Amino acid sequence: RIPAVCVVGSLNMDLTITTKKMPKQGETVIGEGFETYPGGKGANQAVAAARVGAKVTMIGAVGTDTFGNSLLENLSQEGINVEGISKISDVATGVASIIMSDHDNRIIVASGANAYVTPTLIDQHREHIYNSDIVLVQLETPIDAIVRTMEIANEYDIPVIVNPAPFRELPEAILTGSTFLTPNEIELVAMKRQSFSDSIREKIILTKGAEGVQFFEKGKSKVVKSHKVKVADTTGAGDTFNGALAAQLGSGVLLADAVNYANAAAALSVTKLGAQSGMPTDEEVKQFLKNNE
Ligand code: RIB
Repeated sequence: RIPAVCVVGSLNMDLTITTKKMPKQGETVIGEGFETYPGGKGANQAVAAARVGAKVTMIGAVGTDTFGNSLLENLSQEGINVEGISKISDVATGVASIIMSDHDNRIIVASGANAYVTPTLIDQHREHIYNSDIVLVQLETPIDAIVRTMEIANEYDIPVIVNPAPFRELPEAILTGSTFLTPNEIELVAMKRQSFSDSIREKIILTKGAEGVQFFEKGKSKVVKSHKVKVADTTGAGDTFNGALAAQLGSGVLLADAVNYANAAAALSVTKLGAQSGMPTDEEVKQFLKNNE
């Protein structure tokens, strides 16, 4: 069945400079190239879910500038419903400044319009939340709006995946209201500074990059191994995992199979430059899994 996925989150224009050498403190280096790519964790996850066949609606905000227009156009071209994305006047669309070398990437986000995703805006678009099979959120938009999203989803028994990135302290409402939490290893270390119970621990699907994905099935820890691929750009790999996972879980696939699928989608996504360029279709993921049996 085609899953309906509602993504609540950020939209950024990614301003990406590739360089052989990362600048040190106070240093200027000459880079190799510059590109703009559509990004933002929310938009990336929405695109990842749409590419693998989900019916996706996104709730978020952009400014009334060129970046905002081109981000909206990009999502529409991916078949994503953008009715839930507000245009905020006199505010810049979110941008991410990305420095990418062969072995490293560093990202700094200027939230702009993403900071205007408020509980009121969520309430205005609440029908997209309760009409979905699954809801996916990250932490690039204000926490109170995420909490509101979860309240609505919980009220209608809609499962919620929380991708705690970039990490911020998680209020109890997010820990208890989520169905799954998908940190990477850095985010897990930060999460562990807060105390949480075994029932929260078992919601965690931990993405470990080259070491695969660890999750819990009937109280037992399981690992899905990563795939070896030629890496061009890891930006958006976590987003691809989350979007594909939401699409799979939303269509009723079992957790272990959904994790396996999302892990393969994430592996494929790193083979091209830009967060969204390498995100695979359902056919590509299935073919890749077949070839890697
Ligand atoms: O997860 C990758 C994303 O993080 C980038 O697209 C950038 O916009 C930042 O939000």
